[in-house]
Amino acid sequence: MRWDLINAYIKKYGFKSFLEIGHDQGIAFDRVEIDLKESVDPDETTHPTYSMSSDDFFEKYSTKYDIIFIDGLHEHAQVDRDIKNALAHLNMGGVIVMHDCHPISEECQRHTFVYPGGEWTGDCWKAYVKNRALLPYDMYVWDHDWGCGVIDTNMQRSSELPQLPTIMADMEYAEFVAHPDWMNFVVELPM
Ligand SMILES: C[S@@+](CC[C@H](N)C(=O)[O-])C[C@H]1O[C@@H](n2cnc3c(N)ncnc32)[C@H](O)[C@@H]1O
Repeated sequence: MRWDLINAYIKKYGFKSFLEIGHDQGIAFDRVEIDLKESVDPDETTHPTYSMSSDDFFEKYSTKYDIIFIDGLHEHAQVDRDIKNALAHLNMGGVIVMHDCHPISEECQRHTFVYPGGEWTGDCWKAYVKNRALLPYDMYVWDHDWGCGVIDTNMQRSSELPQLPTIMADMEYAEFVAHPDWMNFVVELPM
């Protein structure tokens, strides 16, 4: 599960601080094992460390973290902003994990939350693809638990990328299905 991946990176690099965007019921938060952990969520009933949106949090605070988990509002523009802001709030050698990068159907990844079938990934995958095209890091999606995208800033890009689109609004689910190489899915943890 997502916390296994997060805990594996904490152990690998000896990380000390963690931020989760999107606390919700604390299912992941409670299972992350690290010295300092904080969360941000605009829904105060979830009892996050900071009750506000991720945009407001990043604007207000300049704290840096070793590892940041992006799992707030699952809309591509928001996830893209969360990635940009998380990179700016990451300690040197830090890692970003982003949830819900592998939708299982077109409905599941609809832009707005109108999916009645349970899990809704939203279209986070589009922000992953854009950032994979633009960032200088090797990126992959651990293909478990709805797809966990990873940006490990210790891993400079080492191989040629497939042709990747960068305009999120133009990305279509049919292309996502036709081009699994856009995501770089892995089943085993490459660490
Ligand atoms: C899918 S749940 C998070 C699940 C949790 N991360 C876990 O692994 O168990 C999404 C959460 O993001 C919160 N959220 C929505 N918009 C947000 C925003 N702009 N910034 C931060 N959190 C947001 C919601 O209130 C909700 O609690």
